[in-house]
Amino acid sequence: MGALGFAFSVAPLTPGPRPGGTPAFRVRLARRGDGEHLGALLLELGYPGAGDTGTVHWVLSHPEIEVYVAGDAQDRPIGLLSLSHRPQLRLSGRVATIDELVVAAAWRRRGVARALMQRALERARVLSVKRLELQLPSLPDDGVVAFCAAMQFHDAERGVVVRIP
Ligand SMILES: CC(C)(COP(=O)(O)OP(=O)(O)OC[C@H]1O[C@@H](n2cnc3c(N)ncnc32)[C@H](O)[C@@H]1OP(=O)(O)O)[C@@H](O)C(=O)NCCC(=O)NCCS
Repeated sequence: MGALGFAFSVAPLTPGPRPGGTPAFRVRLARRGDGEHLGALLLELGYPGAGDTGTVHWVLSHPEIEVYVAGDAQDRPIGLLSLSHRPQLRLSGRVATIDELVVAAAWRRRGVARALMQRALERARVLSVKRLELQLPSLPDDGVVAFCAAMQFHDAERGVVVRIP
């Protein structure tokens, strides 16, 4: 049982050896069977209890959402990026949002998020996306700020406020 009272049974995700410097992970589309690992990654993002089977299936079958994962040598997801896209009036074109991006703590600073972002950028270009947005934590730490700069994201011109409908 975790500190937040949420039980999860995913084996510890630790980087394996990288013989010859080859990446120990591979980016692919998420599959329905990834649910448990997606839940563990969403917990690291700060959302305990997220990643239930029904929602995972709903999201993965949605025509305007793509979820990419980086799988370790055993193909277990150790990084997650979800990309949603839709047409927008004021852009006269398509906007895409990276709704979730997280890499397991033990795997950070190994190029996992960069590889996931590369895949999202390729997809955005195929979709002729005019603007790619990245959802940040409300209080981004120095690592997140440095990552955004490294990936050439810059501050948007407007903020977002939220409420329950
Ligand atoms: C932000 C996050 C996704 C980065 O994942 P990552 O796999 O460690 O990032 P990468 O290794 O691909 O880093 C790419 C570049 O970003 C920069 N960067 C990433 N993390 C950094 C850090 N902690 N400090 C300084 N620079 C950093 C570096 O320039 C890095 O390139 P380099 O390692 O060659 O110097 C990861 O730290 C994370 O999951 N954080 C918690 C979840 C979160 O806040 N998500 C919001 C994401 S915007």
